[in-house]
Amino acid sequence: MQTVLSGIRSTGNLHLGNYFGALTNFVKMQHENNSYFFVADYHSLTTHPNPKDLHNNVRKVLSEYLACGIDPDVATIYIQSDVPEVTELYLLLSMNAYVGELERTTTFKEKIRKQPENINAGLLTYAVLMAADILLHNAHKVPVGKDQEQHLEMTRKFARRFNKMYKTDFFNIPKAYNFGNELVKVPGLDGSGKMGKSEGNGIYLADDPKVIKKKIMRAVTDSGPTEQNSEKPEAIKNLFTLMKLVSKPDVVQFFDGKYNSCEIRYGDMKKQLAEDVINFTTPFREKINEIYNNDVYLRKVAEQGAEKARINARKTLSSVREIMGFKKF
Ligand code: TYM
Repeated sequence: MQTVLSGIRSTGNLHLGNYFGALTNFVKMQHENNSYFFVADYHSLTTHPNPKDLHNNVRKVLSEYLACGIDPDVATIYIQSDVPEVTELYLLLSMNAYVGELERTTTFKEKIRKQPENINAGLLTYAVLMAADILLHNAHKVPVGKDQEQHLEMTRKFARRFNKMYKTDFFNIPKAYNFGNELVKVPGLDGSGKMGKSEGNGIYLADDPKVIKKKIMRAVTDSGPTEQNSEKPEAIKNLFTLMKLVSKPDVVQFFDGKYNSCEIRYGDMKKQLAEDVINFTTPFREKINEIYNNDVYLRKVAEQGAEKARINARKTLSSVREIMGFKKF
C-alpha cells in the first residue's frame, strides 16, 4: 500500500486554490492509501502570528479540512506541533541541506521581496521542514498545487542525498500528485498570479455569499474583445479557469462562445460565476461552522490523529537515528 501525505499552513482560511490544488485530490485518495493529512502550524510561525490567534487558526483549518470530506477514521489527521518528532528529523536533514540551494528557492526569494523586515532562518529552511513532514511518514505521493512543486523537488533531493550518503534505500522518493497529472494553479481575482492567502485575491470556502458576490463582481476584466476568436488576456483567462472549476460545461461553453463572437458581457459572466461559486461553497460553509463549534469532536480528532501519527513518526526517527550512527550506551 502506498502512503499519501498532504498539509496546509494554518495562516488563513481555506480558499478555492487550496481546495482544487490539493485537498480534493487527497480526499479522493484517502480510502485506497495509507493517508496522512496535517495542519502545518510550525510553518505558520515564519510570519509571527499573534499567540492569541495561533490556536484559533489551527482550529479553523482543521474544521475546514474535516468539512471538505477528510475522514478521521480513514486518514490520520493531525496537528504538526502535536508530533514533535518532526523537529528532530528537520534538524537531522538540515545538516545535509546546503545554504546555497535553500537561498535559490523561489518561495524564499519571494519572501525576501515581500517581507524584507522579517527574513528569518525559518524561512530559509522552510523546505527542509516540509521535507521532514513528508519523509517522517515516508510518503510516496503528495497531493499539492503547482506552487509547491519546487519544495517537492527539494524533498526528493534531500531523500536521495540521505540514501546515497548512508548507502541505504530507506527513504522513498516522493512525487507531487494530481489526478489530472498536471499540477494545478488556481488563479486569483486580481488578473494575475495565483490565488493565495497573503495576496488578498482569494475566495474562501467559509466566505459569506454576499462577500463572494462582491469579490467576483469586482474581479479585474477589460473592455472586451474587438476581434473574433482572439486570444484571451490573462485576467479573462483566469475568470474562465475559475468558471471551469465550479460551473457546468455548457455554461462555460456559452460564455466562451460569447467571447469568441465579441458579444460577451462580463457583468453577466460574473453574476453567473458568483452564483455557481456560492452553490459550490454553501454546503462546505454550513458544515465548517457546525464542526468549528464542536469542541469535543475537534479534540477527539486531534488526539486520535496525533497518537496515530506519532507511532509512525517514532519508528521513522528510530530507523534514521540508527542509520546515521546514533547508539545507546
Ligand atoms: P499552503 O498552505 O500555502 O497551501 C496548501 C495547499 O494548497 C495548494 N495551493 C494551491 N493550489 C493551486 N492553486 C492555488 N492558487 C493554490 N494555493 C495553494 C498548495 O500547493 C498546497 O498543496 N508549504 C505548504 C504546507 C506544507 C505541506 C507540507 C504540504 C507544509 N508541509 C508537506 C504538503 C506536504 C503550504 O504552505 O501550503
